[in-house]
Amino acid sequence: MARVALVTGGSRGIGAAISKALKDAGCTVAASYAGNDEAAAKFTDETGIRTYKWNVADYEASKAGIASVEADLGPIDIVVANAGITKDAPFHKMTPEQWNAVIDTNLTGVFNTVHPIWPGLRERKFGRVVVISSINGQKGQFGQVNYAATKAGDLGIVKSLAQEGARFGITANAVCPGYIATEMVMAVPEKVRESIIAGIPAGRLGEPEEIARCVAFLVSDDAGFINGSTISANGAQFFV
Ligand code: CAA
Repeated sequence: MARVALVTGGSRGIGAAISKALKDAGCTVAASYAGNDEAAAKFTDETGIRTYKWNVADYEASKAGIASVEADLGPIDIVVANAGITKDAPFHKMTPEQWNAVIDTNLTGVFNTVHPIWPGLRERKFGRVVVISSINGQKGQFGQVNYAATKAGDLGIVKSLAQEGARFGITANAVCPGYIATEMVMAVPEKVRESIIAGIPAGRLGEPEEIARCVAFLVSDDAGFINGSTISANGAQFFV
């Protein structure tokens, strides 16, 4: 039986590449998205991957969305918590709204995504959880106190889940992408972006598929002993 995988934020950017890579690896994939109906419909047309709309920041909406995925496709075996947003501002200008929006989506959103799926993984004695963190959760970033806090938080989540899930055959790992050629990075002011690229020894942005391949490996049966770890894919921009 094909494994069932859920990728949040799975119809655009890094998430879309992950959804496709998991489909190519033989999984039955569901991609959730928050708001862009047009992009989701186009993604489904192009890939045949089903898309589901809910806001990961809302626990009840996540629970209901996950229930509808499981009703359509069967129990979820693999969950990739990828959905995330930025609201960048230097700390002295950051508003409580910018702080809360990023915490609610990027950090509480991981809880809301994994928590409803977790009991089923424990019961069935198999699971793969991958959280998409960021280089900026490892090193911090000017203008991203909120985002960096959530992405560092992701690392705490997977290290704790790994310890709780290991005896049930569940692994939980993080991938820390560096700067990847997505709309999110293209939204950074051009001058700032150029100076960031100048600081990447590889001399280029990463490609979404380079992150997707890390995820495809972590969710494979072959990766069963990799648990609580972090894969960095950042073109040598930062080492932990
Ligand atoms: N380091 C040091 N100083 C910096 C700086 C930096 N990286 N960026 C800006 N500054 C300085 C400016 O030069 C300026 O100094 P002066 O007042 O002396 O001129 C001061 O800080 C304030 O800068 P601005 O007035 O330009 O501040 P702003 O309100 O316009 O906000 C910003 C700037 C929005 C934070 C902008 O710097 C920015 O977008 N930075 C990029 C943040 C970033 O990397 N985001 C990543 C998005 S992609 C992503 O998140 C995916 C992932 O996981 C990697």
